[in-house]
Amino acid sequence: MTELMTLKKDYAGRDFLSLLDYSTEDLQYFLQVADYLKAEHKAGRPTPYLQGKTMGLIFEKSSTRTRVSFETGIYYLGGQGLFLSSNDLQIGRGEPIKDTARVLSRFLNGMMIRTFSHDIVTELAEYADIPVINGLTDLLHPCQVLADLQTIREHKGELAGLKMVFVGDGNNMAHSIMNGGARMGMHVVCACPEGYLPDPEIVAAAKAAAELTGGSVEVMQDPLIACQDADVIYTDVWASMGQEGEKAEREAVFAGVYQVNDAVMSVAKPDAMVLHCLPAHRGEEITEEVFESHPEIFDEAENRLYAQMAVMALLLQDAE
Ligand code: CP
Ligand code: NVA
Repeated sequence: MTELMTLKKDYAGRDFLSLLDYSTEDLQYFLQVADYLKAEHKAGRPTPYLQGKTMGLIFEKSSTRTRVSFETGIYYLGGQGLFLSSNDLQIGRGEPIKDTARVLSRFLNGMMIRTFSHDIVTELAEYADIPVINGLTDLLHPCQVLADLQTIREHKGELAGLKMVFVGDGNNMAHSIMNGGARMGMHVVCACPEGYLPDPEIVAAAKAAAELTGGSVEVMQDPLIACQDADVIYTDVWASMGQEGEKAEREAVFAGVYQVNDAVMSVAKPDAMVLHCLPAHRGEEITEEVFESHPEIFDEAENRLYAQMAVMALLLQDAE
């Protein structure tokens, strides 16, 4: 077997809840490890960084990409993943998160959770003595944006200085894009309607982070102004998981304006990438034509595998 890359020990035992918990250098290192794991995997070389280790995967919301990329990623790293639906766990019947955290810490080496309130993830991490990875909350989706950054770097060669525009709801994706883009020195613009703007505290923290890297963060309403000369255009559904009841009222606000279509693409750079975390609703936040002419969206989905393998390999290392 070829020798495995020796990983920096700095990340052993840490949680992965928000991209802002990590420095620019840290995120660059995560991306370097993700690229290495991708190259090794494509070459058919095993990377058993999780040999003999177990990861619990707690889902309180639906998932295609997150579930499958975590389960296969753990397998490719030589570990064992356990899919834990909250419908089947005792948390679904009211067992406190803090008890679940302490019990699962006795069985597992790491946990991923996809849930509603971000407080659930922070409480889980506080009481667990194993690494906790945020697989999406109502507030943030850091694993997705780590994969997005890997994808943009693959296509554009670098991140710093690029203009990345998010069009749509000021949601978990908008928040993590601001966090990740700011850390990497990108110019992030969010075009969101009044009433659906990103959380002001997240915007302020991302702006402060951008000041350290020469990047910038801006929020505005008009997608056609926001997308001027964009290198990357990003969108997401108008109604996220848990907001199904607001679908009609959101459609009335977003329809026709907060859509990645030919008009939006015509003001961006001619070689602008289009990204979407998926699942996509064609005819709503993106047109069929734009979606189908940007296959990098599927490179983005694929990179969930490698970005998360990097996170798990780094966090679940033994400290000594
Ligand atoms: N993008 C993303 O997280 O997809 P899933 O909801 O399918 O996991
Ligand atoms: N904003 C979306 C992202 C899905 C990956 C949601 O939370 O449903």
